[in-house]
Amino acid sequence: MTNIEADLQKNPQFDWSASECELGIDRSGIINIGWLCSDRPCQMGKAAKTALLWEDHQGVEKVFTYNDIRILSNNIAAYLEGLGLKPGERICLFMDRVPELYIGFLGILKLGAVAQPLFSAFGEESLFTRLDNAQTSAIITQRKHALKVRKIRDQLPNLRYIIIVDAGEGALKEREIAMDMEKLPKADDYKVYPTKAETSSVLHYTSGTTGQPKGAQHVHYSIVSQYITAKWVLDLKDDDIYWCNADPGWVTGTSYGIIGPWVNGVTQAVLDSGFNAERWYKFIEKYKITVWYSAPTAIRLLMREGKETVQKFNLSSLRHLCSVGEPLNAEAVHWSKETFGRPFHDTFWQTETGCIVITNHPALPVKPGSMGKPFPGIEAAVLNPQTFEPVNQTGIAGLIALKPGWPSMVRSYWNNPTGYQNKFKNGWYLCGDRASIDIDGYYWFMGRDDDVINTGGHLVGPFEIESALLEHPAVAESAAVAKPDPINMEVVKAFVVLKPGYAPSDDMELDIMNLIRKRLSPLAMPQEIEFIDALPKTRSGKIVRRILRAKEFNEPLGDMSTVMND
Ligand code: PRX
Repeated sequence: MTNIEADLQKNPQFDWSASECELGIDRSGIINIGWLCSDRPCQMGKAAKTALLWEDHQGVEKVFTYNDIRILSNNIAAYLEGLGLKPGERICLFMDRVPELYIGFLGILKLGAVAQPLFSAFGEESLFTRLDNAQTSAIITQRKHALKVRKIRDQLPNLRYIIIVDAGEGALKEREIAMDMEKLPKADDYKVYPTKAETSSVLHYTSGTTGQPKGAQHVHYSIVSQYITAKWVLDLKDDDIYWCNADPGWVTGTSYGIIGPWVNGVTQAVLDSGFNAERWYKFIEKYKITVWYSAPTAIRLLMREGKETVQKFNLSSLRHLCSVGEPLNAEAVHWSKETFGRPFHDTFWQTETGCIVITNHPALPVKPGSMGKPFPGIEAAVLNPQTFEPVNQTGIAGLIALKPGWPSMVRSYWNNPTGYQNKFKNGWYLCGDRASIDIDGYYWFMGRDDDVINTGGHLVGPFEIESALLEHPAVAESAAVAKPDPINMEVVKAFVVLKPGYAPSDDMELDIMNLIRKRLSPLAMPQEIEFIDALPKTRSGKIVRRILRAKEFNEPLGDMSTVMND
């Protein structure tokens, strides 16, 4: 029987407070995610149980028990405190998927500081934008990524420490210090900071259409949602070996790559390596992964590899599969049934929701191509885009909206209260996506309702790309839009108007692509650049990306009445 069935049998009326009870917390008392993910499992008799099975791309392995992560996160918290870092300060984690990232996350929270994880493939400009906005006090990083921090540290007066976890004997530069996690002074009885339900915990940056990325500010109370959704949707049980292949630079990698499994006291495996079908299958076989949380782009890559590859491995340990980040096409669900003997279960949610909100939980029959139904305790609807009232009719497209109030809902955007207010209409939180609901109450995803580009499950904001493009000496104006892609769903395409005196060429295209890859990230790099004479604009001079995007997707152009026609 699945966890959700067993729990609902005992108590059919869903209430978040039941999860608080299971966690032994009280909304008005002390709630600390770092403590609940490491000390509590130890108190529940799991001190010697494996918390983390870690392997890197060269096959180097490390194993950490719950007691190990408890002590090591205490040590890190005490070390950071010793540096003078205070509760509430933002401490960035900028690393590959090394153990220090996962355990450091808990350490920062135990100190009462705010963990700001950033994807280690970010270039200096993406990094700068986010550290500057959050007025980050310290960054924990690796030697290879410290080079990017060095380039921007002079413009970041608040950044007091650049903490390098693998400094070795290497020379340290200004503000840099070495921290060897395994050699830190022991702080076994570290006094975890008494954070409350509404104390800030995690700051994840996410992209919208306008302006720079926004810092979604989460609180310690979010753990109530992450606990129960991991238990019910991922169906995590005591003897599971769980693998979430998302990077903690993105919300899936923290909500379900750190908090969800550890607060449930489950063993999780981490592979610090990019995509490689054989390596991934070998990893599942070797560690006997039972529950796997992945994403459609990875599934499509595996599908492309074909049957011969998968047949080389024994993957019979897998018992439950979930997917997130992009629409999970019906074909991928059928393929997974055929290949693994079980379907991928779709889960829909966002950085802002903090937890899964619409899903095919394991007790719900999967309708391939649908995202499933709202999670118990989540009130969702599809709204008419003009009136912002629920459509209340099956099969009609509208805006996905959620009634605020679940525990892990984002509390604000860092330094951007107006951006946050703009996400609400008529008492509903708008996700920025479109869907329809069928007769059985299943949600069918239709697309984004804005210009954000979803490439391989990662959101990229056009504004950030366009701002970076302007730094190229030849670029006068630009527009970044989504272009369909068979594997990544969407990739970035840039339309560029050159300054007088510059002519389009292959070299120019490459030079511009490289600039974006280096400054922002490989995800944001345009896969194609089209040089044009002028961009479509409204009479007031606003670029109309919708037209450029519609052409890429062969869609109708829509209302053209406000677009200048010169
Ligand atoms: O557009 C939706 C898409 O990803 C967006 C959220 O991205 P982010 O905040 O980066 O969080 C990603 C992981 C939680 C959504 O607004 N998205 C996410 N899950 C799905 C999805 N689109 C379709 N189907 C999904 N299951």
